[in-house]
Amino acid sequence: MRVVIAGGHGKIALLLERLLAERGDQAVGLIKNPAHVADVQKAGAEAVICDLETASAGDVAVLLSEADAVVFAAGAGAGSGAPRKDSVDRAASVLMADAAERAGVRRFVQVSSMGAGRPPRPGSDEVWAAYITAKTAAEADLRARDLDWTILRPGGLTDAPPTGRIQLAPPPVPGGTVPRADVAAVIAGLLGNPGTRHQTLELVGGDSPVAAAVHSIS
Ligand SMILES: NC(=O)c1ccc[n+]([C@@H]2O[C@H](COP(=O)([O-])OP(=O)(O)OC[C@H]3O[C@@H](n4cnc5c(N)ncnc54)[C@H](OP(=O)(O)O)[C@@H]3O)[C@@H](O)[C@H]2O)c1
Repeated sequence: MRVVIAGGHGKIALLLERLLAERGDQAVGLIKNPAHVADVQKAGAEAVICDLETASAGDVAVLLSEADAVVFAAGAGAGSGAPRKDSVDRAASVLMADAAERAGVRRFVQVSSMGAGRPPRPGSDEVWAAYITAKTAAEADLRARDLDWTILRPGGLTDAPPTGRIQLAPPPVPGGTVPRADVAAVIAGLLGNPGTRHQTLELVGGDSPVAAAVHSIS
């Protein structure tokens, strides 16, 4: 399986690239910064330079021509302001979905966030509100498309080692944290389970082994 990952140098993306390479899949990381090529290659993936805030859907569709699946794992990141929540967390996901449709790539896993799907609480920090608004809009865009999408909403991400044990279910799942390594394992599982298409799933640490949790909702 050839999997194109938007935000290919992100923390989850690098972990996912390793998992895909280990099981014999071909990962392709779309990255903005040429200095990140070596890291992506070290993770076992092909690195392709593509700035998702300036590329056109046509440009990206060309990069998806041989792909079997798309993973949207990009994000504007912790230090960014409201405008980049819109240009990355929303618009770059819309761009990838447009490109997937043009290229005929049906499978699309979107990394969203717990908290998406409803308006930000009144009084929320402006940047957090922009982030949740962007994620909610990206989800709505994807749901409206004729693609085999799965929306994954992790809780708070940590860099702890993988536990291999999670709680994965349609909302509402009580809030919590989850290691990025477990998120990567769940994405790899979702890619291999097309029965999870058209589902919105929330993810935190829990008791269920990853494979069993993914299987149970497919
Ligand atoms: N932090 C949390 O607790 C939390 C919770 C739930 C969900 N999430 C979501 O989980 C996802 C992945 O998280 P993560 O920790 O793996 O994120 P991350 O390490 O910040 O990775 C995001 C990646 O997106 C890339 N990116 C940003 N703008 C880009 C552009 N214009 N073109 C191409 N790539 C671009 C970044 O590249 P550069 O490094 O070059 O900028 C970065 O490599 C994000 O969507 C995040 O919002 C986060």
